[in-house]
Amino acid sequence: MATRIYILAKELGRANFEIAEACRLLFAGRGRRLAPSSALTDEEAALLRDYFTASNSQSSSSDESLVTRTTDESCLSGCEILLGVCGGIAAYKSAELTSLLVKRGAKPTVIMTDAATKLVAPKTFEALTKRPVALSMWEQNHIHPHIELARQAEIFCVAPATANIMAKAACGLADDLMSATILAFSGKLIFAPAMNSVMWKKNATQRNYRLLLEDGVEFVGPASGRLSCGEEGVGRMSEPSVILLAIEKAVVELKSK
Ligand SMILES: Cc1cc2nc3c(=O)[nH]c(=O)nc-3n(C[C@H](O)[C@H](O)[C@H](O)COP(=O)(O)O)c2cc1C
Repeated sequence: MATRIYILAKELGRANFEIAEACRLLFAGRGRRLAPSSALTDEEAALLRDYFTASNSQSSSSDESLVTRTTDESCLSGCEILLGVCGGIAAYKSAELTSLLVKRGAKPTVIMTDAATKLVAPKTFEALTKRPVALSMWEQNHIHPHIELARQAEIFCVAPATANIMAKAACGLADDLMSATILAFSGKLIFAPAMNSVMWKKNATQRNYRLLLEDGVEFVGPASGRLSCGEEGVGRMSEPSVILLAIEKAVVELKSK
């Protein structure tokens, strides 16, 4: 019998939106509208159980499934990942994402915007990655930091992606290290937006979202739920475990090319 999303969420102790997002990523069902009452096939439910068990225990359980392929530690092992942290409250969740990447054997380098440094200290990311955090175009020891960072990375994930960076990336602006590195990067870009729901729904942001999708940017979220401004709605950054899944999926695709 088919399992409803909200029943699976209860069983796994997860929020409905986490199940819906993992579902969207795992089954690439982009055209499918998922609501808490949506029914999952037995196979889909089994894969999701596997995925969330794997991400809780940091290990995978079965050899056959897509979940195993995408959560296998070796798929990220030694992988150079750029993690762009912008100025949203969700920047604190990026520390958890960084920690998950390190545990999976990836080599993350963090870039922070000026606004992000007002919300989370760069030292947090330095301590987690054991690497310096890239903050400026004008650091003494790099001649072209945006080019060097872009060349070194296999995947570039921006989480949280603010309305501002979406606008800049959509227009090709390059007036700080984050936007210049996005422009200089030729690989897979993943954005995990986070913002107030009015900002997300605004025509300008939706226009930028469509432009970025057309340019091949992969989006994770935003999810719905309680926002830091106190409102309920769409605009929450996806959970780090879900963003990790998108990164793993991108790495698997890259390696299979
Ligand atoms: C406390 C606080 C929280 C904010 N949260 C967000 C957010 O979640 N999303 C967003 O797009 N902007 C948010 N902003 C506004 C951005 O910080 C602002 O637009 C900034 O210019 C973004 O710069 P950046 O994209 O270079 O990081 C927030 C501002 C403050 C003061």
